[in-house]
This record gives sequence, structure tokens and C-alpha cells, in this order.
Amino acid sequence: MRHNAIDHEKYYDKKKEMIDFLISNIDKYQDLSMLLTSFIIDNSFINAYEMNIPVSLSQIFSKFGVFKEGFDPYIEFKKILDRYSFLDDERGTYCEVGAGIYPRLSEIIMPSIDMNHGSLTIYDPNCMFSLSENIHIINEEFTKDTNIKEIDTLYALYPCEATITVVEKAFEEDKNLVVGFCNCDHSDIKYPCTDEYKYWADGVCKIYERMYGSDLDIIGWPSSMKNDLPIMVRRSTKHKEKYKSL
Ligand SMILES: C[S@@+](CC[C@H](N)C(=O)[O-])C[C@H]1O[C@@H](n2cnc3c(N)ncnc32)[C@H](O)[C@@H]1O
Repeated sequence: MRHNAIDHEKYYDKKKEMIDFLISNIDKYQDLSMLLTSFIIDNSFINAYEMNIPVSLSQIFSKFGVFKEGFDPYIEFKKILDRYSFLDDERGTYCEVGAGIYPRLSEIIMPSIDMNHGSLTIYDPNCMFSLSENIHIINEEFTKDTNIKEIDTLYALYPCEATITVVEKAFEEDKNLVVGFCNCDHSDIKYPCTDEYKYWADGVCKIYERMYGSDLDIIGWPSSMKNDLPIMVRRSTKHKEKYKSL
């Protein structure tokens, strides 16, 4: 049986709105807006799994609700934060690294953070939409020198070159962490990016498992999504103490 990530009925219902959204935000998308608009017009992804949709478009598809239930990567990623009770802390402090042009993941997560009077900072030089006055956007790269002293939880979905930095800082500074690896090889030795490079993500996870053993979980996306990239989760000492039963 064929599956795909997009609900066709919702897609055709929202097509014009999505194109209008891109065109009215042309300053934020620049050259990309014409490319993304033509993607929406010619439907070339319509039989694809979520992984074949460019992330800048994925953010828009999620915003307009055209993913089928269980295929929206941002909603599925939030479920992982929920599963580990990372969003339950009163006045919790959060940092998303590599949110993308339209920070859809943080848009979905923010109501939970607001409910608990927490705060959120995004690091991404390319994040262009300020969606809430409670989200502090820093248009800079997240580096090993970024000050995360006040942060409880780091999360990142497909954060490309920032991946290793986020992982290393979470372990070194004892933070909660959820990272969804992308399929490119982001080690120092660069290869052309193809769909084959999930091996790098698997390799990194194996190395961390060997170094930190039970101090991390490597989990997967729901099998229906056909996305076999790993997601790394770590809990801080403080979090483990507070939620002993997890
Ligand atoms: C593949 S996109 C993922 C976007 C978003 N998380 C999503 O899934 O829709 C990777 C993003 O990481 C950002 N990025 C790459 N290196 C970074 C760094 N060192 N610090 C912060 N953001 C970074 C890029 O600007 C880009 O927006």
C-alpha cells in the first residue's frame, strides 16, 4: 500500500493560502520564495514521504495543517519532549538551535512553555519570523562558546552543522537534550549530501552510546513516517532527580 505524508484534500484547500503566504513574505524568503512557490504549484512532492520535502516547505505545510495525522515532524518531535516531561517544568528555560526560516517547532511548543511561565531562546542566523514576544530570537550561530548556563533544555530538529556542538554542550554542561539528526554528513570531512548519509548520524549516536552508556536514549520516528534517522535524548541530573519514575 502506498502512503505519503500529505493530506491531498487539505493540501488543495490550502494551496492558494500557502502561495499567498510565501509571496507576502518574499523579503524573508528572498530567492527561495519562488522556488518554494513553484514546488507548491507543481506538486512534485505529493507522493513523497516527509523526508523528501524541503524543510522550509515542511514548516509551511505544518503551519497550514496539510500533513496527514502522524506525519507532521514538528508535532511528532514535540511528543518526544512531552514523553520525557521536558515541558512540564515550572519556569523552565529552553533553547532551540537551528529553527529554520519559520520556527514552526517552537511555535508548536510555545503554548506549553507559556503555560508553565517558561522562556525560550532560538539560535539561528536564518530565523526570520518572530511569532511571539516570548520567543527570544538570536540571529547568530550557536557555538561551543554560547552561554547556556541558564538553559534547562536544548532541542534541535535537523540542525545541520550545529548538531555536534549541541550534543557536546548538553553532555558537558549537564542539560536536557533532544536532537533529531538530519541525513547529511556534518563531520569536518565534507561529502556531497545525498540521502545515503544517515550513516554519519548512526555513527555519532554509536560513539555517544559507547561513551555515555545509559546516560542517553537513541530513539526513532514513528515507523509510519519512513524516517529512519536517529533522535538522541539525554536527561540532566536535575531532571532525573525530579522525575525519578521516568
Ligand atoms: C535543515 S534546517 C532545519 C530547520 C528546522 N529545524 C526544521 O526542521 O524545519 C537547519 C537550520 O540550522 C541552522 N544552523 C546551521 N548551523 C547553525 C548554528 N551553528 N547555529 C544555529 N543555527 C544553525 C541553519 O541556518 C538552518 O536554518
